Amino acid sequence: MRLDKLLSAVTGKSRSDVKKTCKSGKVSVNGKMVQDPGFQVDPAKDEVLLEGQAALYEKYHYFLMDKPPGVVTAREDGRFPTVMDVFRDAMPDASEKGLSPVGRLDKDTTGLLLITDDGELAHRLLSPARHVDKTYEVLCDGILTREDVDAFSTGMDIGEKKPLKPAKLEIKETGLPYPEGFEPDALGNHGGKSPRSFDPDVLKDAGKNPAEGSAEDALKARGKNMPEPGKPCSLAYITISEGKYHQVKRMFAKTGKPVLLLRRLSFGPLHLDEGTEIGAVRALIKDEVAALKSAAGLEEEA
Ligand code: URA
Repeated sequence: MRLDKLLSAVTGKSRSDVKKTCKSGKVSVNGKMVQDPGFQVDPAKDEVLLEGQAALYEKYHYFLMDKPPGVVTAREDGRFPTVMDVFRDAMPDASEKGLSPVGRLDKDTTGLLLITDDGELAHRLLSPARHVDKTYEVLCDGILTREDVDAFSTGMDIGEKKPLKPAKLEIKETGLPYPEGFEPDALGNHGGKSPRSFDPDVLKDAGKNPAEGSAEDALKARGKNMPEPGKPCSLAYITISEGKYHQVKRMFAKTGKPVLLLRRLSFGPLHLDEGTEIGAVRALIKDEVAALKSAAGLEEEA
C-alpha cells in the first residue's frame, strides 16, 4: 500500500495534505525518514510513525453513539439534523468517509447506534437470517401484565406477512403515575446525562422539574396524545431479534399501551455505557469489534 494512502486513512486528511507532511520529513518507516509519498508499506509489518507517533492503519472504523432524540438516522436529510451531524460534533477530527449508521432508530428514539464503514459487517448484522438481539427500554402508557408478556413471547401479528419472532418482555415497574407536566425529552437529557434506565425517581423528578416547553406540545409534535392526568404507565425491557419498521412501537400499540419513550440499550454484543452523555460517540474497542464480527459470522482477519 502507498504511504500517502495509509496516512490519509489514519488521519482522515486529504492525499495532498499528507503528501506535504511526507515531504516535510515528519514520517518514518521502520526507523528511517521517508519523504516519498508513493513509498510502499505493509501495514501489518512496517512501523510507520507520524511526528513520532505510531500511525496505526485500520481498514474499517467502528463507532458507538448514544443517539440523542430529535435527529434522524440517516447520512443526510433535507429537514432534520442527522446522526452524522451529531458524529461530526462529537468527533471533529475523525474522517466520516464511508461511514453509515447500521440500521435505524426513529427520530425520537435514543440509545445505542453503531456507525461503521464496514459494509459487509453492517449487511450481515441487519440480515433477517442473522437474528441479532436488540434490547430496548420502554416507557409505555398503561399497566403491562402477564398477558402482555405471553403475547410478546408467542410471536405477535402486527400486520406483517408472517407473525413476528418471539420477543422477550420483562416488566420492570407498573402503575407509575404519569408525572404531571412531564416533558419526555427532559428524560433523555436529565442533568446532562442520559440515565441508563428510565429510573422511576427520574421520571417523578421530571414531573416536578419539567424542562422548557410543555409536555403536551412535545407529544403532539410526535403525533401522540397526552395521557389523561393520573393515568398509570409502565417501564419494561423488550428484546427483539428482528428489525421491522417501527417494530417496538407497533407491538406495544397492539397491546393498547403505546410507547411513550424508547431507548436502545444493546445491539448484539454491544451495550450502552453506564451514564454516557447523550450524543456521545466513541470508537469501539478491539474486543467489541471481534464480538460483533463473531455475531455476524465473520472471521477476524489475522
Ligand atoms: N422499534 C421502534 O418502533 N422504533 C425504533 O426506533 C426502534 C425499534
